[in-house]
Amino acid sequence: MDTIIYDRITAENFNAASLDGFIRRQEVTHCWRKRDGRWTLLPIAYVEDWDLEGRRRRAENILRSVKDGDPAYGAWVQGRLIGFVQLSGPRFGRRKQYIDLARFHVSLPYRGRGIGKALFHLACQGARELSAERLYISAHSAQETMAAYHALGCVEAEEIYWPLAKKEPCDVQLEFLL
Ligand SMILES: CC(C)(COP(=O)(O)OP(=O)(O)OC[C@H]1O[C@@H](n2cnc3c(N)ncnc32)[C@H](O)[C@@H]1OP(=O)(O)O)[C@@H](O)C(=O)NCCC(=O)NCCS
Repeated sequence: MDTIIYDRITAENFNAASLDGFIRRQEVTHCWRKRDGRWTLLPIAYVEDWDLEGRRRRAENILRSVKDGDPAYGAWVQGRLIGFVQLSGPRFGRRKQYIDLARFHVSLPYRGRGIGKALFHLACQGARELSAERLYISAHSAQETMAAYHALGCVEAEEIYWPLAKKEPCDVQLEFLL
């Protein structure tokens, strides 16, 4: 079993090439959609993946956010980043209760082994340090993604944050009470 190192992502341990070996691939077959006020699982199939250019662009975005002070946490195996999570400030919501869980991914060969759960808990700790009351997640509506968020304790958001919801209309707006 590979040793997994968890740490906060910094400009020292992360750079524009840090996602080069990351496998985002997800073969989606079913997605959740609200139909007549009820959540329904529909057969919607597509493949999510990032090519090298996309991985580089995302790595640069993560680095920029880290330099701006947004907490991010990574999981490394033999020096390779195999999972990451990032919060994006500032807080929002009527009571400033939310902080955005903006990025959350585990590389395909490492999914389903508890790495996402460990990263999620690190993000929760970071969010509490920023005095947030809840995480806000504009979540991918794929069946397996929603199953993971629900298993982690996320529920439908009490308050919809429209700037995020409008950006990804097929996402499901979730929250997690810290
Ligand atoms: C979502 C994701 C980050 C979770 O990371 P992970 O390392 O696979 O998750 P874990 O192994 O820590 O599992 C966390 C919980 O979710 C559950 N879970 C994970 N994958 C699941 C699946 N495919 N189906 C059902 N439950 C699942 C686990 O059983 C676990 O619950 P438990 O502790 O009660 O057993 C990861 O699967 C991923 O990167 N998926 C593709 C990208 C994605 O959807 N990102 C989120 C974008 S909004």
